[in-house]
Amino acid sequence: MTPPSSSHIESHMTSAELQTLFLSQLEDYLKKKTHFNLSDHRTFLESAIQHSLLESGKRLRPLLCLASTSMVVESISPTIFPTLMPIAASIEIIHTYSLIHDDLPSMDNDTLRRGKPTCHVKFGEDIAILAGDTLNTLAFELLSHDLLAHVPADTCISIINKLSVASGMNGMAGGQAMDLLSEKRNQKSDITHIHSLKTGKLIQASLTLPAQLFCDDPLVLEGIGKIGEKIGLLYQIVDDILDEEGNSDLMGKSKFKDRESNKQTYVSTYGLAKTKEIAQSTYDKTKVELQNLRLYNTSMINQLLDLIFVRDH
Ligand code: IPE
Ligand code: IPE
Ligand code: MG
Ligand code: MG
Ligand code: MG
Repeated sequence: MTPPSSSHIESHMTSAELQTLFLSQLEDYLKKKTHFNLSDHRTFLESAIQHSLLESGKRLRPLLCLASTSMVVESISPTIFPTLMPIAASIEIIHTYSLIHDDLPSMDNDTLRRGKPTCHVKFGEDIAILAGDTLNTLAFELLSHDLLAHVPADTCISIINKLSVASGMNGMAGGQAMDLLSEKRNQKSDITHIHSLKTGKLIQASLTLPAQLFCDDPLVLEGIGKIGEKIGLLYQIVDDILDEEGNSDLMGKSKFKDRESNKQTYVSTYGLAKTKEIAQSTYDKTKVELQNLRLYNTSMINQLLDLIFVRDH
């Protein structure tokens, strides 16, 4: 009798095993891509990048990439990891750059991030700004090289285009500007719009980019886009609640920051009780929408959605 092939074994991995393997490969990939073999003082910038990026964070966005793939492929196995990795990693890299800049004294002025001193506290503001800049370009370097090795050029360009949009004026950076203008210059905007841009777009991209790679059904892709929009908004609504009610040690970041800085949030707009109702109804609607889509496997996304809704960090 011949033993089962390794792919046979892999396709019978549990969802938890698949996630663990994916996260450990992600960590290896991020490590490899942020070791630049330098022999000059840029090692200081390299250390700042590694301090903020490696072995920290919940890696929610990469996990959403994996969950999205499992929704649209019949049977998911580690054979798709090499294709998925540059996408998952580049989103996590952009997210980390956004956190480094978000924490700067001129932005949210935070000293604690991912359970460690913020990048500028440890390495100085100048290097923290450059660490963010370097990560921002690294993301697109990985897509235009490592992803290109696995997908046709037009698909690769489309992914690069969509991640650029999700990170720029009509995404994270634009949303961050609205957030700060509301706080520091009293230029108020619609809070749902701010949250959908500053946090929502990158989370939505974590679902839509892998989906577009592995699925060509326009109805399914549209549905995943709508689910991604709701999950992204829910994520920041819960973040606003945690700023009031969370535990700083568990979160690895300070709390009451929004209240202290008079930031426009869901809690400042609607109060805590109403914000929790909105979170609940956004969660409920997302669950229903997920059920109504014709997807292969929704256990991972449902699990992540539950985690996002009830999370304590
Ligand atoms: C924090 O993001 C900033 C927001 C967009 C709310 P995460 O809560 O995903 O932080 P990490 O990546 O786990 O550190
Ligand atoms: C951050 O929102 C959104 C980003 C794009 C980084 P917050 O400013 O609320 O995130 P935390 O609370 O500092 O993690
Ligand atoms: Mg902020
Ligand atoms: Mg902040
Ligand atoms: Mg916050």
